[in-house]
Amino acid sequence: MASIWGPTKAIEPQHDHAHTLKRTLSWPHLVALGVGAIVGTGILTLTGVGAALAGPGVILSFLIAGLVCAAAALAYAELATMIPQAGSAYTYSYAAVGETIAWIVGWSLILEYSVVCSTVAVGWSGYFAGFMEANGWGLPHALTAGPYAGGVVNVPAVAIIAVVAGLLMVGTRESATLNTILVALKLLALAMFVAITLPAFDSAHFHPFFPHGFFPTEGADPFDPSKMIKLGVLPAASIIFFAFYGFDAVSTAAEEARNPERDMTIGIVGSMVICVLIYMAVAASAIGAVPVADFANSPEPLALVLRSMGQIFASKVFGAVAVIALPTVILAFLFGQTRIFFVMARDGMFPRKLGEVNPKSGVPVLVTILTAIVVAAIAAFLPLAEIAALANAGTLCAFVAVGASMLVLRRKDPTRERPFRVPLAPLVGAVAILGCIALFVTLPTGTQVRFFVWNIAGLAIYFLFRRGKTVAG
Ligand code: ALA
Repeated sequence: MASIWGPTKAIEPQHDHAHTLKRTLSWPHLVALGVGAIVGTGILTLTGVGAALAGPGVILSFLIAGLVCAAAALAYAELATMIPQAGSAYTYSYAAVGETIAWIVGWSLILEYSVVCSTVAVGWSGYFAGFMEANGWGLPHALTAGPYAGGVVNVPAVAIIAVVAGLLMVGTRESATLNTILVALKLLALAMFVAITLPAFDSAHFHPFFPHGFFPTEGADPFDPSKMIKLGVLPAASIIFFAFYGFDAVSTAAEEARNPERDMTIGIVGSMVICVLIYMAVAASAIGAVPVADFANSPEPLALVLRSMGQIFASKVFGAVAVIALPTVILAFLFGQTRIFFVMARDGMFPRKLGEVNPKSGVPVLVTILTAIVVAAIAAFLPLAEIAALANAGTLCAFVAVGASMLVLRRKDPTRERPFRVPLAPLVGAVAILGCIALFVTLPTGTQVRFFVWNIAGLAIYFLFRRGKTVAG
């Protein structure tokens, strides 16, 4: 069916499914999957950036970002169980609204998935350089940071992307066992962090709680007083938002859940609640132990907190866990990126060559290499907070589309079987849509401009080359 937004995509898969996935996962697996993809650079590094923007009120920023993500996650779950096709938000908005909106969402997803990889690589590099230095193998700063952070080029960030892309090309998927071990390691490291820092808790560090207020206020950048930026709890939430996504990994496992109705809800809401609680505890204990200003600008803030308390061994263990576990987040998103390209190319949105998979490994090699080059170039030169904000802009756009697609399909196709139904759908949909819009509005102005430039370029490509030529399923 065509509308002003172009034709829509059929909900039933149009491609033969030679295999049906086995329903082997129950909720503990799903929670592990979610926590594994979610916990990464957001909590390990952006906590510092958030604390600089909001002061101790960053604890509230975690709660707000978590609530918005939980609402979006529920909408994801309904659509993922109802539309058994790859492509996530792109596919859902293709089915619900039409080709043009689907293109904008797909184009935003490309931004999200690529720039997340760059951000996590830069976060990884911070912990890697800190870990090396703590062990007496210090690397020159010029080679471990981009020009905006006083260096020249971030070599470790480029190297980790090359390694992960290489693994992906030989066909490595993160195995469930490895994922479970890494999730356990990450959670143990964060628990250790809280256990060590909590006894040093000094409530004086929490006054004033809102040094920059709740709503965005213009103020001097704490890291570069010559620049004016948005400060406050909401702007911090729009950056901290980065720490929560990755749960689409849970919704993509919908076809493999034993009891989707119950298990998906527990899996998604459970991993979200666990992360909100852990994040708030980690942020509160970091601030309680060391004043915000002392760690906010560090490339490895949590390890620095431990070091400044004299916990040298614990900081080394923490750094080692970060170095081992963070690359899996890059793997998950780089893999997701190739899937988005694959589906968009299959729909005719991109030259089909881009979506071609290597018959042996089943991996779209060309797109993996192209993505890795772009992602590495961004990670080599750009500053962490800026690229995290750009990834968030793309993700917020995709989440608005998911919330809206869920509500639109409830009206357009009310009788279709939904193995998982969002409870209180209008309320949850509204929280997802309005919450994401509110966070988008509080993103740095420069990020909003870059996001619109990206989309204008995307729309120009679409209207020049694609509109009307795509094959809706
Ligand atoms: N939520 C993921 C992270 O924080 C992207 O690294």
